[in-house]
Amino acid sequence: MTNPVYDKLRNCYDSIKDEIPFEPKVALVLGSGLGDYAEQLEIQGTIDYRDIEGFPVSTVPGHKGRFVFARINGVPAVLMQGRVHYYEGYPMSDVVLPARLMKLMGAKILFLTNAAGGVNYDYGAGDFMLIKDQISCFVPSPLIGPNLEELGPRFPDMSHIYDEDLRDIIRSTALELGIRIQEGVYVQLTGPAYESPYEVKMCRILGGDAVGMSTACEAVAANHMGMKICGISCISNLACGMTDAPLSHQEVQEASDKMAPLFKKLVSESIKKMGSI
Ligand code: HPA
Repeated sequence: MTNPVYDKLRNCYDSIKDEIPFEPKVALVLGSGLGDYAEQLEIQGTIDYRDIEGFPVSTVPGHKGRFVFARINGVPAVLMQGRVHYYEGYPMSDVVLPARLMKLMGAKILFLTNAAGGVNYDYGAGDFMLIKDQISCFVPSPLIGPNLEELGPRFPDMSHIYDEDLRDIIRSTALELGIRIQEGVYVQLTGPAYESPYEVKMCRILGGDAVGMSTACEAVAANHMGMKICGISCISNLACGMTDAPLSHQEVQEASDKMAPLFKKLVSESIKKMGSI
């Protein structure tokens, strides 16, 4: 029996498979303001999202739209320079299509990054947060609908979404580089409005440390497929209501731009170590 979601994924894969220069080990998703990371690498190939039939293309300023293939410290990687968000109006199956496609390309590890608002009062703008778990139940699950048996089971376990070994690597790399890194729970809300102060309070009461509009749904899809997952949030701001200042997309972008140099080091050195697991 055919399934339109799986058929679309296969069609996307078939239409690009001849352009993939190597089998990537790591799939890296670059969040807001972090997309420039790809420019510093020795790029071995690119595929524009708009050239892939039916592929979702980001409408958000600051998000580019292409896969980049490069070796990061020798480790073959595919990077998503730009992602799509649920609030852009795409169905959840399209939002996670790129992550699924990178698994079909051969990636074993999914490294998720984003800009996020801190909801934990111990956090400050400019902090990094290693994601230890997530709350994704405020957005529809990408697994709703007939199960894609080719990808994974109907009822996947979610006890260990963020891989302990990968977290050890990122934690120890941050320590070696002298980068302070928090460790916490990421909450995905739909956006696109930033949260009200009481929504921020809700996230905190639920055990969240950072809030954003991406990532967790991709982790649900990747966990379903048995990928090893890790994630870093760049805390670009404290969430609404925690300070008197209003929040803007520009502030988020500027803050993540400032974090980019340290972020690049942390990601590159962590991926180097991921090459040997
Ligand atoms: N809320 C939601 N998403 C975000 C934020 C925020 O405060 N900052 C960056 N992305």
